[in-house]
Amino acid sequence: MRSVRAVVTGAAGFVGSHVAEAMAHAGHEVVAVDAPARSASPAAARVNWAGLADRPGVHRVETDLAVGDLTALVRADVVVHLAGRPGVRSSWGAGRAAAVRDNVTATRRLLAACAAAAAPPRVVVASSSSVYGSAGGRPHTERDPLRPASPYAASKAEMERLTAEAAVRGLPTVVLRYFSVYGPRQRPDMAFHRFIEAGLAGHPLPVFGDGGQSRAFTHVDDVVAATVAAATTGLPPGTVLNVGHPEHVPVRAAIDLLAGLLGVRPRIDHRAAVRGDAARTWADSGEAARLLGWSPRIGLAEGLADQVAWHRRRAAGPEPAHASGAGTAGRPS
Ligand SMILES: NC(=O)c1ccc[n+]([C@@H]2O[C@H](COP(=O)([O-])OP(=O)(O)OC[C@H]3O[C@@H](n4cnc5c(N)ncnc54)[C@H](O)[C@@H]3O)[C@@H](O)[C@H]2O)c1
Repeated sequence: MRSVRAVVTGAAGFVGSHVAEAMAHAGHEVVAVDAPARSASPAAARVNWAGLADRPGVHRVETDLAVGDLTALVRADVVVHLAGRPGVRSSWGAGRAAAVRDNVTATRRLLAACAAAAAPPRVVVASSSSVYGSAGGRPHTERDPLRPASPYAASKAEMERLTAEAAVRGLPTVVLRYFSVYGPRQRPDMAFHRFIEAGLAGHPLPVFGDGGQSRAFTHVDDVVAATVAAATTGLPPGTVLNVGHPEHVPVRAAIDLLAGLLGVRPRIDHRAAVRGDAARTWADSGEAARLLGWSPRIGLAEGLADQVAWHRRRAAGPEPAHASGAGTAGRPS
């Protein structure tokens, strides 16, 4: 594979830190971009950001994409845009403004800077399964209509619209719709992170809704593999791809698996269902298989064991920054 100069935005985040590491590990030159103070979990972002400090092949640039000057930043072969404000629950009420600012405004500015570059880079944009709303009796394909049901999902749909518009004007763009990503360094607001921390502390697991909702849980190493493939493959401009595991697993079943791994009896602390949360996410990732030769390799039992091991290592104390929580994609042996 030819080595590229890649800008990875959101590199202090859960997915972005893994992508930055994996690309540097594969010999690409990585410009890691983030504004850790903009993270919904600034403490986690600061740890991930520090972890990139001494990575060979990684150069860090702290910039707020919603206000900073992006002209010089986008001199690259590819921009992998993972920065933003994720999460359905936190996007209601006061969180809506952050979703608009860090998802929509930041993406509009980044796309404009890329389009204005002397040699416009390929741009890979992270979207979300939430743009579909809930799946019915079959998995979602990229041709399905978008039915965003929360401010977060609406902001991702708007990001997609801006990206499609840029593609029509000639920018080589790819949109990746990620489905429920999990694994080492998962965001502290996400379900498995909260469940595992609660389980390790001997507390009941906080579950929103009745646990009957099902998700296409996708391990971060698989997501990284799809993202790196999209960043380094010449896809038709405007390509949109689902990046999700083909199974959809009820949250309750995932909790049973986790309880076994943690060696606890599953006790649930039931919380009110989250408005706009899909009853089911279900991915048809056939297009990604066809265009990228990608399909997910990691099943839920194996992937959860990997995440639990990371939480246990974290609880045991700090690791050297360069080794903390790397997924198998970029993990030192
Ligand atoms: N994690 C998932 O399950 C999932 C699922 C679907 C889509 N996504 C999308 O993937 C991307 C990455 O998600 P994640 O889980 O790693 O989130 P994350 O919150 O861990 O990472 C996002 C990063 O973006 C940075 N950021 C936010 N606003 C910024 C700004 N204005 N300028 C510069 N940096 C900024 C944050 O500091 C943070 O480090 C997001 O676009 C998210 O919507 C994630």
